[in-house]
Amino acid sequence: MSEQLIRTPFTDLVGVRHPVVQTGMGWVSGPRLVSGTADAGGLGILASATMTFAELEQAIIEVKGRTDQPFGVNLRADAADAPARCRLLIDYGVRVASFALAPKPELIATLKEHGIVVMPSIGAAKHAVKVAAWGADAVMVQGGEGGGHTGPVPTTLLLPTVLDAVDIPVVAAGGFFDGRGLAAALSYGAAGVGMGTRFLLTQDSAVPDAVKQLYLQRGLTDTVVTAKVDGMPHRMLRTELVEELEETSALKRMGPTLRRTLEFKRTSGMSWVGLARDGREMKKAQGRTLAQMALAANTPMMLKAGLVDGDTDAGVLASGQVVGVIDDLPTCQELVDRIVTEAAAELRRASSYVV
Ligand SMILES: Cc1cc2nc3c(=O)[nH]c(=O)nc-3n(C[C@H](O)[C@H](O)[C@H](O)COP(=O)(O)O)c2cc1C
Repeated sequence: MSEQLIRTPFTDLVGVRHPVVQTGMGWVSGPRLVSGTADAGGLGILASATMTFAELEQAIIEVKGRTDQPFGVNLRADAADAPARCRLLIDYGVRVASFALAPKPELIATLKEHGIVVMPSIGAAKHAVKVAAWGADAVMVQGGEGGGHTGPVPTTLLLPTVLDAVDIPVVAAGGFFDGRGLAAALSYGAAGVGMGTRFLLTQDSAVPDAVKQLYLQRGLTDTVVTAKVDGMPHRMLRTELVEELEETSALKRMGPTLRRTLEFKRTSGMSWVGLARDGREMKKAQGRTLAQMALAANTPMMLKAGLVDGDTDAGVLASGQVVGVIDDLPTCQELVDRIVTEAAAELRRASSYVV
């Protein structure tokens, strides 16, 4: 692990050497990527929404076997078994709990009682204010350049509004890939950056190599935010399948949708009761319609087909717009090293302008 060049309230809070976070990406952020990031001095976050409870426990054990550095787990706050998963984090001494949606105040309190850092992801200043009032230790702000599901406002505008609204450390995500981005985020007042697509495109991510090559060929306008997969907006690589989905009617999508729902039920080990309970929770949390909930199992299955099985004809490939400026596959160590080295140089250069 390289020496610490930049120390921020986030590195102090979490106990990592560098203010760089590898975000939780379903099917992508597994033990190898997370421990690779942790060993490089950043914060790696396991994505648990696409794991069964038993798989999550196994993944935590595997990360702990690979590294002694701190790491995090991303959880779906609306999942029926969220409290049990939090208990797992407590039992195994996981350092950070990251949430895709705002967790309930009681859940935040329980995690904090056990010394776990709570860092929800948010897409609006008002959500940051809410979770900060509930005791969150930090927030990750995700601009529209990233996954799409947190809304269309770009990081450059979302970040300052969130920084104005809360006093806790803010990690900026959406569109970051290099040291200039880290220097810029710190200059805004953020305490670190989070990156998804950039870490997907490393040697340590388990995504099939042919799929990584497909990402590397993409330009800045080759992603699209679509709600046609499950009724929620997600940013995807613009592929033939995504273009077809965009053009096909809801009725025609129904057959394949049902097939994937059955498949997700089988692989996730969830019962119909469990799926329905999750659906009801989702509806409460996100105001989804019943038809949208019926589609909810589609995204995980279609992402799995693309990102795990490498079947790009049947699967979708989530991606940030940043894919258009990434053209290599470094190791996590090389990536984190060059980002912090470049950021430190950029911060020095920029401060030399001050008269
Ligand atoms: C392949 C992929 C899968 C993702 N899965 C999740 C997820 O399961 N939960 C979540 O909160 N965010 C997810 N995201 C969003 C990322 O965690 C992150 O916020 C986003 O990628 C940041 O933008 P960037 O790609 O421009 O760095 C995913 C993103 C990608 C690219």
